[in-house]
Amino acid sequence: MINSLRGFRDLLPPESDLFTRIEAAAREVFGLYGYQELRIPALEKKELFVKSTGDTTDIVEKEMYAFTDGGGREVAMRPEGTPGVVRAYIEHNLGQTGRNGKYFYIGGMYRAERPQAGRYREFTQIGAEHIGNPSPAADAESISMLVRLLEKAGVEGCSVELNSLGCGECRKTYREILLAFLRARAEKLCEPCRGRIERNPLRALDCKIDGPWLSAEAPKLTLCPACAEHFDTTQKYLGTAGVAYKVNTSLVRGLDYYTRTVFEVRTTALGSQDAVAAGGRYDDLVKSMGGPQAPAIGWAMGVDRVAMLLKDKPAPDTAPKTFIVAASKEAGEKAFALLTALRSAGVSSDFSSFDLSLKSQMRSADKSGASFALIIGEDELKAGTCAIKSLKTRGDQQTVPLSDAPSTLKQLLKG
Ligand code: HAM
Repeated sequence: MINSLRGFRDLLPPESDLFTRIEAAAREVFGLYGYQELRIPALEKKELFVKSTGDTTDIVEKEMYAFTDGGGREVAMRPEGTPGVVRAYIEHNLGQTGRNGKYFYIGGMYRAERPQAGRYREFTQIGAEHIGNPSPAADAESISMLVRLLEKAGVEGCSVELNSLGCGECRKTYREILLAFLRARAEKLCEPCRGRIERNPLRALDCKIDGPWLSAEAPKLTLCPACAEHFDTTQKYLGTAGVAYKVNTSLVRGLDYYTRTVFEVRTTALGSQDAVAAGGRYDDLVKSMGGPQAPAIGWAMGVDRVAMLLKDKPAPDTAPKTFIVAASKEAGEKAFALLTALRSAGVSSDFSSFDLSLKSQMRSADKSGASFALIIGEDELKAGTCAIKSLKTRGDQQTVPLSDAPSTLKQLLKG
């Protein structure tokens, strides 16, 4: 027997229903905010992620499913959606041809991390990117949309943490200050950090090993006046939108492209995998990838983690409402027509096999969770009727002409 790979899993019902519900909530919320769907490929040129996510990030250094394909091309399974959206934005000239630069995506992402509860090697993200709007109102809109989506999906008890990483200008000075701080502590740093501080000192602050003590002790970034004003105004708008948040000056994020606003939505209910969603502004990425100057803001939510938070909540009933049982091959033909008529009338319906005994079909009816069994036995076949038997209140039964069955069922299901 061949099992699935470690960190890759089958999503079985009812968990798969939870995913569908979360995605439906997201589509509804995206509609309210004017976002359109982008379906981007799962496989891209490896270079796309090296250049955008960043070659000193854990994702690119250690976690990418990258390989040389049969044609000798260096490719990678997408570890995140933002680079693909930016590539598509540039490749299809969406800045000129698109409606408003607001795009969402839903799909699997791939990272070769050490699997544990809430951390998988294939996981689903729902992501939103707003490209081309530099205003702090766009930051606040993006974050408040995320909060609305979590509420709509039924998630409770999350908190929003907010920070600003400033622009290239404020970071130029900070880089030198931070580098001096890190160099003086180089012997205390883990191997990967020691290797990358010269190339990207900021990365050390989100290192899984050294990040916590470094961000507590390291000097803090001072924002330039324009970035400080952007951060202030973002917070004012968040207040207007009624979004509760906490400023956390240690929040740096593990991807390279961020500028100014960054944020994470956290929960205390998932142990160490506490980030439910995260994102930020990336004002320089589109240009650095060969596109126009297009400031942007976005986030991605981990659907697997949201599903974990919702798994104890009562799920909507997805069982069929009716189950059709037939006593013979001939009755089976009538039963199949009845199935079709019920579904056309919007009444969900299922069956097992009309070749099996009535007893066995009734067992399947019970197992299905249906409210009513519709039985076409020999007598009913002759009379052109079917028996409607309640599976919830034992004993309740009535016989109706086959043609009346859909309307009768609709009435019964209303009551
Ligand atoms: P990220 O923080 O790498 O950001 O991932 C966003 C969310 O994806 C996390 O908060 C978490 O819920 C989920 N996630 C990440 N890794 C895993 C995993 N191994 N297993 C399960 N869930 C996971 C991004 O991906 C950025 N692209 C977000 C963004 C969009 N920034 C701007 N636009």
